[in-house]
Amino acid sequence: MKKILDEITEVVSKAFKECGYDEKYGKVTVSNRPDLCEFQCNGAMACAKEAHKAPFMIADEIKAVLDKEAMFETVDSVKPGFLNIKMADVYMANYMKTMLTEEHFGVENAKNPRTIVIDYGGANVAKPLHVGHLRPAIIGESIKRILRYTGNTVYGDVHLGDWGLQIGLIITELKRRKPELPYFDESFTGEYPSEPPFTLADLEEIYPAASAESKKNAEYKKEALEITNELQNGHRAYTAILKHILTLSHADLKKNYGNLNVIFDLWKGESDAQPYIPDMIEDMKKRGIAEESDGALIVKVAKDDDKREIPPCIIQKSDGAALYATTDLGTIIMRREEQNPDAIIYVVDKRQELHFVQVFRTTRKAGLVRDDVELTHIGFGTMNGKDGKPFKTRDGGVMRLENMISDIADEMYKKITENHTVDPEEAKKTAKIVGLAALKYGDLSNQASKDYVFDMDRFTSFEGNTGPYLLYSIVRIKSILAKYAETGKNAADYEVLAPKNKSEKELMLALANFQGMIENAAEEYAPHKVCAYIYELANKFNHFYHETKIMSEEDEKVQGSYIRMLELTKGVMETCIDLLGFEAPERM
Ligand code: ARG
Repeated sequence: MKKILDEITEVVSKAFKECGYDEKYGKVTVSNRPDLCEFQCNGAMACAKEAHKAPFMIADEIKAVLDKEAMFETVDSVKPGFLNIKMADVYMANYMKTMLTEEHFGVENAKNPRTIVIDYGGANVAKPLHVGHLRPAIIGESIKRILRYTGNTVYGDVHLGDWGLQIGLIITELKRRKPELPYFDESFTGEYPSEPPFTLADLEEIYPAASAESKKNAEYKKEALEITNELQNGHRAYTAILKHILTLSHADLKKNYGNLNVIFDLWKGESDAQPYIPDMIEDMKKRGIAEESDGALIVKVAKDDDKREIPPCIIQKSDGAALYATTDLGTIIMRREEQNPDAIIYVVDKRQELHFVQVFRTTRKAGLVRDDVELTHIGFGTMNGKDGKPFKTRDGGVMRLENMISDIADEMYKKITENHTVDPEEAKKTAKIVGLAALKYGDLSNQASKDYVFDMDRFTSFEGNTGPYLLYSIVRIKSILAKYAETGKNAADYEVLAPKNKSEKELMLALANFQGMIENAAEEYAPHKVCAYIYELANKFNHFYHETKIMSEEDEKVQGSYIRMLELTKGVMETCIDLLGFEAPERM
């Protein structure tokens, strides 16, 4: 269905035309003075110069035309030349009716649907997920859902770190500890065991031990680098060990991301880029795109008009090893071959901005994808503790993500059980759902690029701009709808009527902004816009709820209309939280 703003703009533009002005002046926006009007048009001001007329005279003319339109309750011409618009009640009721019948509440599919890959996991295998992995996961997941909702084909790719020195280190340590394994017997030609020679817990212990050792032992580090290089050149035994690491890590990561409601379509890693790398490098060398520098291979990507220095992109180290940029470039080729996307969006820490500038420029220079393929890095800020420094555990360590999730669920459990008696089992389940919402909403409601403070008390509060407040509002609607159902009446028998009071009209206006908001959030990859919207909607609903007797309303038709409004509100709110990646419990 048409967005409400478009529908109004169309009518106002027609009026401008009818009065002999350019219709472009008919652009309407949501009012920034809701105390005065609902929508406004400032076109008369912009048009005055060209028309050699005072703006208020133009506004008066337009008003006279618009006064004939049934869609408006009032159109005021206000000096020096504003048009202040209020919508007719019947128009709003009809708009609600249509929203209720349309798929996606009237949100239309993108005019040019695209195929999009979102790269938003970035966890490293053999290392537990920690709080640093929280932001990419939840921001990326939400962007994926928003883009899908608006009709695009979207692939979420976890793009695991599984190819660098970290794997070489693990193999080195394993070799030291268990030299008797067939993987380390150069003469071994048989099949390697199908069972991994370690557990996940072993890996989580082996990696930090190896990393620490390599920092103080040059010999060890050298061996790890050699092993990494051999692995990257296809060493059979090391590849078999990597496979074991991946099998264990994938299972564990799937579980942990799953607990966050984060679901990837592709479980690729840096290692999957390997098959594309040798040819890519050969080709870049041949065409003179890459050049040698101190034994390494680099691509110069600086431009004359750069405001800061952009160093060359190093695509091969002097020892022949691939680097972070190399695997990202190989991955772009892989995606071109496999998904052939129109856009690749990277949700990665903003501190990696330079890396992406280098990778994107190299991609363009080498023509790895069509020129019209969008490459975007959405750089997110840091989650800080209350001290303004990157969030740490109480003893200063890096917090495991699962601990953070359970801490917040524990806090929610306390709050839920504080004031009333609830079945502990149910309360536990509810606390998990609400806790996740608290965490995700606390994050997503900030513009992604900004740093923010993780504030447990604020995030878990039932009041204010928080996840629990939103869920509480949804649960409130669910409970009214359940009560209504108990009366044996069926809301489907009733229609939305003209609003009975100001709060109901405001609720209608907020609902009518849904389509425009979603379109905007999709265009700007901006989950925080969904957050701002749903918070406003929840406020409008709660206001309406406090002003209106719903269950005691005696006029069946009026009551039925209220219930339809609640159904619509619930539908839109549930859609919004689903796009943010969380859900509401039945009760709380
Ligand atoms: N594994 C990387 C890290 O820990 C993040 C990967 C982000 N994605 C990418 N395509 N570079 O920093």
